[in-house]
Amino acid sequence: MTITVVDHPLARHLLTELRDRTTAPARFRTLTKQLTAILVLESTRDLPTDPRTVETPLERADGSELPAIVAVPILRAGLGMVDAVTELFPGVVFGHIGLERDERTLQPTSYYEKLPPLQGRHVLLLDPMLATGGSAVRAATTIKEKEPAIVRMVCMVAAPEGVKALEAAHSDVPIFAAALDRELNARGYILPGLGDFGDRLYGT
Ligand code: PRP
Ligand code: URA
Repeated sequence: MTITVVDHPLARHLLTELRDRTTAPARFRTLTKQLTAILVLESTRDLPTDPRTVETPLERADGSELPAIVAVPILRAGLGMVDAVTELFPGVVFGHIGLERDERTLQPTSYYEKLPPLQGRHVLLLDPMLATGGSAVRAATTIKEKEPAIVRMVCMVAAPEGVKALEAAHSDVPIFAAALDRELNARGYILPGLGDFGDRLYGT
């Protein structure tokens, strides 16, 4: 499987509170930001860097510099993950992909797309929920048409069905998640999951 489940006690703690149905939107947003930071750090662990030499007050020191990264949140729920990425990588450039699942067919419909040049760049695809995988597959297809160097998917909760779908369509897109849950229900919601992420984030 191309999924890495980030197994850190803090990640488990934050996810538990996110799952809790009594967690209100204000707290939900804070938890989303904190958990995203952990997941994004893990997903960029092997990001290649360029060498950079600096002068310390005492002598020269060899160091390194990050390449420009691009983050692409899938609207709307992926927007909750943006602040953490901005704080970790102030030089990040953003693209946006708007997708909404049809409640009946579970197929994503595209309603917005604005992407910067991606050729040769490192892309983080941000969406907290990987359910059927339809949205992630569609977004990864759109991104890969622009020939990035690497695409990585960062999500909070993944379902086995979504992992399988993304793996089948894009085996070169590794997934970083806080949990791999049991299954989808008949309405395409992840079990045990945390409900509708966008609604809980925005108090809809
Ligand atoms: C949710 C979620 C993902 C998608 C996952 O978005 O944020 O984008 O569902 O489901 P899938 O893997 O089956 O495609 P939704 O379409 O509900 O839109 P929203 O973010 O605007 O709430
Ligand atoms: N989208 C969500 O927000 N939650 C799910 O469980 C599945 C898709």
